[in-house]
Formats: sequence, C-alpha cells, structure tokens
Amino acid sequence: MSWVGGKKALREEVVSRFPLFYERYVEVFGGGGWVLFHKPPGNDFEVYNDYNSLLTNLYRCVRDKPDLLIRALKYVLNAREDFDRARLALGRRRTTEIQRAAWFYQVIRQSYAAALTSFASQPHDMWSDFPLIEQAHRRLADVVVENQDFGTLIRHYDRPATFFYCDPPYHATEGYYQNIGEEGFTERDHIRLRDTLLSIQGKFLLSYNDDPFVRELYAVPGIQIEPVTRLNNIRQRYDPNCQFSELLIANYDMCERGRMAVQINLFDYEEGEFDDEI
Ligand SMILES: C[S@@+](CC[C@H](N)C(=O)[O-])C[C@H]1O[C@@H](n2cnc3c(N)ncnc32)[C@H](O)[C@@H]1O
Repeated sequence: MSWVGGKKALREEVVSRFPLFYERYVEVFGGGGWVLFHKPPGNDFEVYNDYNSLLTNLYRCVRDKPDLLIRALKYVLNAREDFDRARLALGRRRTTEIQRAAWFYQVIRQSYAAALTSFASQPHDMWSDFPLIEQAHRRLADVVVENQDFGTLIRHYDRPATFFYCDPPYHATEGYYQNIGEEGFTERDHIRLRDTLLSIQGKFLLSYNDDPFVRELYAVPGIQIEPVTRLNNIRQRYDPNCQFSELLIANYDMCERGRMAVQINLFDYEEGEFDDEI
C-alpha cells in the first residue's frame, strides 16, 4: 500500500543488491513494506519493524486475523465525514486492535498521497482491496512483526548471518514522520543510525536521498556508496523525465548478486551451444 517514502519505484534496485548469503532478514524501517513484499520468501527468518505502532498493529491484524479486518472494512464509506471520523477516532478512542487497524487502513487508503491528513476525494472500492489483504496475510504468515526503535531492534537481531535493510526517513524530510517519535527523526538519529550500523557483526544495505550530509556520514573505509536515480513521482506531472537521486550504501559488495547472475547466464549459453551440436 502507499506510504510516504515507500520504495515502490526502487524495490527491484534494492533487492538485486541483497547479499548472496544471509540467514536472517530484518527490515528495520518497514513502512508500507514494499521491499519485503517484493523480496521472494526463502528459508530465511524474516522480521518487519516500524516505530509506528498503528502500522505494526495493522500488519499483525493482516497476518493473524484477516477475516476480522475484512469484516470491519466491509461497510466503510468512501466519504469525507467517514474519513474524518476514523482519523479523529484513531487519536482519541480506545478500541480493539481490529477496529484500530480498520480505521488506520481506511485513513491510509482514503487520504491524499497516503499522507494521512486530508481526504483524497477519489473513487476507491474498498472491496477490491480484500484479495490483496488475503495475499498479504499469506506472505506475512512467518514474518515476525516488531515495533521497536531501530537501535534496540538492530542490537537485538545482530548476528554474523543477519542482513538489515534500512530505509530511514530521508535527511531533511523527517518532518513527514513527526507524529511517530516524540521529536520525530532528528539529525542525532541519523548519526545514531550510522554509529549503530558501523558496529554490527552482520550486513546492512541502506537507502537514502543523495545529500552531502549523508555522503559525509558514510565516507568511511569499507563502506560502498552507489548513486541510483529513479523517476520523480511527485514532479512527474509537470516534468515527465524529472529524476530523483538516491544513494544505496552497504558494508559488503553490492555487485556480488549481479556477478552471480552473469555467471549463470554464461553457463546457460554454453549449454545451448552444446544442444545445437547434438
Ligand atoms: C522511508 S519510510 C520506510 C518506507 C518503506 N521502506 C516502504 O517501502 O514503504 C521510514 C519509516 O521509518 C519509520 N521510523 C521512524 N522513526 C523510526 C525509528 N526510530 N525506528 C524505527 N522506525 C522508524 C517511520 O514510521 C516510517 O514508516
């Protein structure tokens, strides 16, 4: 589902740079989970984490009680009054986990640009989302859902065979997530994340906006920084070719998976030639 800072456009670039070997996959800043849902499930132990408890409650309900969630969403109206009521109730009323998940899902789906603030005034058939919720339920069946600050989470799951994918709030756009922590994500948090990641036993891949502060933060021996560009979703309407520059940063060789794919292709090619000769 849409989420501010969601990696829909970058997900293939990210997954193609995963290390070849790891046993635990930990998505530290899960958000809409675009990378987790794009990544094929394997034999690895998977963790989705976000500090926003409304998000983690929603994903736990999708994983454990999809029928109840769908039932609560069946009679939601696509109307400004209903949207405003759900949005206000989320902040004020104590209720069940399912009702909170349903209100939150409604607010994400019906808000402008998924920013959770104003009603989008767009046609949206809630019932068309139900097959998607069922698919997400199956994909999340064995995923551990955590609601921790990144520092606590990384320390808890760090092992030599752990791989952390980190997609923090981008530098200078942290205000979008201000409702989450007490002060939101601050400059100190970016530094704290760098210090935490540079001391782990496992591997990490980090996505960020291409920004001098970020480049300086990770200008450290043994760290790879690769610039990537993608179409700028927000400006596309006015300038169809406008690109947005991002950085992928890792403490391992991000090309190892790509090299392996080339080796496999060469092998296939030789096999093809041999078949022709027969
Ligand atoms: C850029 S978004 C992640 C988007 C996600 N990769 C996707 O594709 O949808 C950053 C996320 O970090 C979460 N976050 C903010 N502060 C955090 C913290 N201290 N620890 C863990 N998560 C945090 C926010 O709630 C937000 O969902």
